[in-house]
Amino acid sequence: MTGFKQKDIISIRHFNKEELLSILDLAQRMEQTDSADLLKGKVLASLFFEPSTRTRLSFESAMKRLGGMVIGFAESGSTSASKGESLSDSVRIIEGYCDIIVLRHYLEGSAQLASDIVNIPVINAGDGANQHPTQTFLDLYTIQKTKGTLEGLTVGFLGDLKYGRTVHSLAYALAYFGAEMFFISPPSLRMPRDCIDELRDRKVKCHESESLMGISKRLDVIYCTRIQKERFADPVEYEKVRGVYRLSKTLLEEMGIKEDLKILHPLPRVDEMDDSLDTTNYAVYFQQARNGLPMRKAILAAVLGAIV
Ligand code: CP
Repeated sequence: MTGFKQKDIISIRHFNKEELLSILDLAQRMEQTDSADLLKGKVLASLFFEPSTRTRLSFESAMKRLGGMVIGFAESGSTSASKGESLSDSVRIIEGYCDIIVLRHYLEGSAQLASDIVNIPVINAGDGANQHPTQTFLDLYTIQKTKGTLEGLTVGFLGDLKYGRTVHSLAYALAYFGAEMFFISPPSLRMPRDCIDELRDRKVKCHESESLMGISKRLDVIYCTRIQKERFADPVEYEKVRGVYRLSKTLLEEMGIKEDLKILHPLPRVDEMDDSLDTTNYAVYFQQARNGLPMRKAILAAVLGAIV
């Protein structure tokens, strides 16, 4: 785990294939090993300037289950940020109270900024529409567990590919594993050009379309995402794409899909995935969310240098 000890986790780009595989392996061991005192005496600062259910609670649960302690906030209105304190000053102060910071913030580049200021590890729990690297670790873990491999898969990314930070991070990671990628979105929510260019430079076969029609039969994985209403500057633009995709069991089976297709979603969902999918073998999104716990235990243990 040399790539993780005392390291910031800011962008998936900072990790090579070997490091990605090593954190998946550690998450597997975390599921199987009693590690209750591993982080005894360590303190996690959990700083969430944007809403979260899964990321915040799985990090906090992971820290407590490893014997550590948690300080922080889920709503920055209760902090001195509401009095005008800058993020830089806040993290400079909080650094003195903890061993590691997990930060979610609405500004792209905020995690990098924090890590440039403090001398303890910073984990990016989502910076605006940019990246969400620890979500990618658990997405890879889920794909590996449910498909049996990460190599050579055909993956369809569906929904809000412009603002969906989990898509950006996962696409970069899957590039290591020879994935062919289909990016399916409304024209206004296409994958950022720089992401596509970088993927093509890395010899990834990338395709873009507005519909799953004609593609669905080829996919091993669909990575579905919510249209991120909160990131639209103009509500009229959101209304134009609201509800544009609504996956259901019937729709997918009528279009034709592989029997062993797996559907992931970082959650929360709004209306893009019908409940009828939940009980099918395609749906692995609830399992994916549960995988957040062993993965975040692995991340905290590896970064704080307490490997089982
Ligand atoms: N997947 C994810 O980031 O969910 P939360 O916003 O609930 O943390």
